[in-house]
Amino acid sequence: MSLEVRELRVEIDGAAVVDGVSFEVPDGARVGLIGESGSGKSMTALALMGLEPDGAEVTGSILWNGRELVGLPDRERAALRGADMGMVFQEPRTALNPIRTVGRQMAEAARIHGRLSRGDARALAVELAERVRLPDPGAIVGRHPHALSGGQRQRVAIAAALAAEPRLLIADEPTTALDVTIQAEILDLLLALTRDTEMGMLFITHDLAVLSRVAERGVVLERGRVVERAPVAELLSAPAHPVTQGLLRDAKATLWRREGGQL
Ligand SMILES: Nc1ncnc2c1ncn2[C@@H]1O[C@H](COP(=O)(O)OP(=O)(O)OP(=O)(O)O)[C@@H](O)[C@H]1O
Ligand SMILES: [Mg+2]
Repeated sequence: MSLEVRELRVEIDGAAVVDGVSFEVPDGARVGLIGESGSGKSMTALALMGLEPDGAEVTGSILWNGRELVGLPDRERAALRGADMGMVFQEPRTALNPIRTVGRQMAEAARIHGRLSRGDARALAVELAERVRLPDPGAIVGRHPHALSGGQRQRVAIAAALAAEPRLLIADEPTTALDVTIQAEILDLLLALTRDTEMGMLFITHDLAVLSRVAERGVVLERGRVVERAPVAELLSAPAHPVTQGLLRDAKATLWRREGGQL
């Protein structure tokens, strides 16, 4: 199940916030989309999901297994969400409904919820909670999001994104709001889940160190355009574009501060 994005453009109020972006995520591959704040990473992801804001105009081509998604009716796009492509959003608090238990939200995301008895829906939620390694799955599925830590909420969001067994996971800065230890755990979880299921992943971040942990290749964005694309090892060892060089300096500075040591 491959994704092929060609000359993708997202225009809002006459301004192109994504301006001719092309890249591919081959079946089962892990590709990173990296760039500074405002470079168009989230808008690219939202356009792939068909979730761009009202009034945004999307042009170019998004081929999913050879099928053109740009211009597809909303109903058909909606059918692909969850089942073909799942997304973990940048802000976990907005992704989860505060008045529903996390178990219910995970089970509903599986889309077979309506056909399940209460007991079966709960069993499914517990199974999903186990999959994302939430502690005490039997109890946690009955809680509301506010009763969970940030890292636990993010695990719930990941479980919901994976519930319908998509073939591509789009993860938009899934660890940015978390502290370093939890961030590493979530990255390991995403890696394990994608490897186990041979699912592809488009991972969005502004942090080259994070990217190097999860992705094989990186696509660098600046002001809505691709300025460099290369295997992650190359972005780290020989960044060609000034933007990539800046991202590498930032990543090194972060590591330096964190470790207090030498690189
Ligand atoms: N709903 C919106 N309406 C109008 N413009 C928007 C909207 N959302 C984002 N933009 C603009 O689109 C551009 C790209 O934003 P986007 O959210 O894709 O950046 P990003 O790379 O994800 O940044 P960050 O790292 O801060 O999340 C920015 O200039 C932003 O101001
Ligand atoms: Mg963003």
